[in-house]
Amino acid sequence: MRAEAGAPIRTAQRVDRFTYAIRNIVAEARKVEQIGKRVRYLNIGDPNQFGFETPPHLIAAVERAMRDGHNGYTASPGIVEAREAVAADFTARGVPTSPDRVLITSGTSEGIELALTAIVNEGESVLVPSPTYPLYTAVLAKIGADPAYYRTDPSNGWLPDLDHLRRLLTPRTRALVVIDPNNPTGAIYPDSVRRALIDIADTHGLVLLADEVYGDLAYDGPVRPMATLDLDAPIISYSSLSKAYLAPGWRAGWMAVGATPRLDAALGAIKKLADGRLCSPGPMQYAVVAALTGDRSHQVAFRAALAARAELTTRRMNEIPGMRCVAPRGAFYAMPQFALPRGRSDEDFVLGLLRSKGVLVVYGSGFGAPPEDGSFRIVFLAPPAELAEIYDEIAEYAREFR
Ligand SMILES: Cc1ncc(COP(=O)(O)O)c(C=O)c1O
Repeated sequence: MRAEAGAPIRTAQRVDRFTYAIRNIVAEARKVEQIGKRVRYLNIGDPNQFGFETPPHLIAAVERAMRDGHNGYTASPGIVEAREAVAADFTARGVPTSPDRVLITSGTSEGIELALTAIVNEGESVLVPSPTYPLYTAVLAKIGADPAYYRTDPSNGWLPDLDHLRRLLTPRTRALVVIDPNNPTGAIYPDSVRRALIDIADTHGLVLLADEVYGDLAYDGPVRPMATLDLDAPIISYSSLSKAYLAPGWRAGWMAVGATPRLDAALGAIKKLADGRLCSPGPMQYAVVAALTGDRSHQVAFRAALAARAELTTRRMNEIPGMRCVAPRGAFYAMPQFALPRGRSDEDFVLGLLRSKGVLVVYGSGFGAPPEDGSFRIVFLAPPAELAEIYDEIAEYAREFR
């Protein structure tokens, strides 16, 4: 049917299914600011907004690349030097990797989108953790595929409930998303759980999408890539400069497609799609080389700063009556759960906290958690003294809410 002249242009239905709570909720915060109240944003995991600085040698690498005239398109999988650096890094960590199986992407985000688009048909399904980093479900909505949420269990350190996961397998299941270290829970999975997940993917012909963007930010030191546990498993691993190298705005990341020939077609499909987006930002690819071949000592200080904030957050949350919080072991997120009064949702709790105290966190259902669980995600990157003040506000609000 032809649209009437002058009528509003209609949008595609897929947009209705697409949600990304971490940024959507900012509209609510702006309304609170418009009435003159200060808002403290604990919603986005951007360390640079809280004073953590990009290592100077990465900035120098980008600057040099620009001055040396590397301002044109690059090959679509990325410059050879960056792919070699990623391959050498994986190899040094115990996963022999060829540069041909590496792509340089606009952050982990683009890798996620490329892989899901290349592998999953409309109407098929992908196992994602609950709670999950919401880009997975947003991309699935866009491509017309379905998430199958497998529980991760707060009473067991937010580890995946493997029996629940197995019950979700159907002939339409195509991939298994594993986020370890985890956003939003801060969990790190023991090898036994990682092996079981790999085994499930292997036996059921699924691609395991290993989101390792926080791999170097475990408080006890870098976590081994999942692929080290089984070099022949169908694993695609991702990471980026965003978190462990403190440059999220550069949109520079990478993906490594496992060596098994079972992934050859997937690699071809991903490269074909990558051709269509030309390349990821060129000068930043030189920073990938600098990051993976240069000094990483900033990570030692960063991990220590995160561990101290995690301890403060867990302690203060667990002191609040009705609140439970599992201690994060990596990254910069905690996922407390508040015993809600009957009939109230996690969104009620979070919006109330924003409107009455000006503290913005994200409700757990924005990550696929059940609304009645009363969970919410705190990004604890602010300086400890500021966090302590914010936690006073949360404690007072929780008392009022009950
Ligand atoms: C688990 C997880 N994966 C991927 C991303 C996206 O990261 P990038 O900036 O590398 O696209 C994030 C960002 O917060 C994340 O938490």
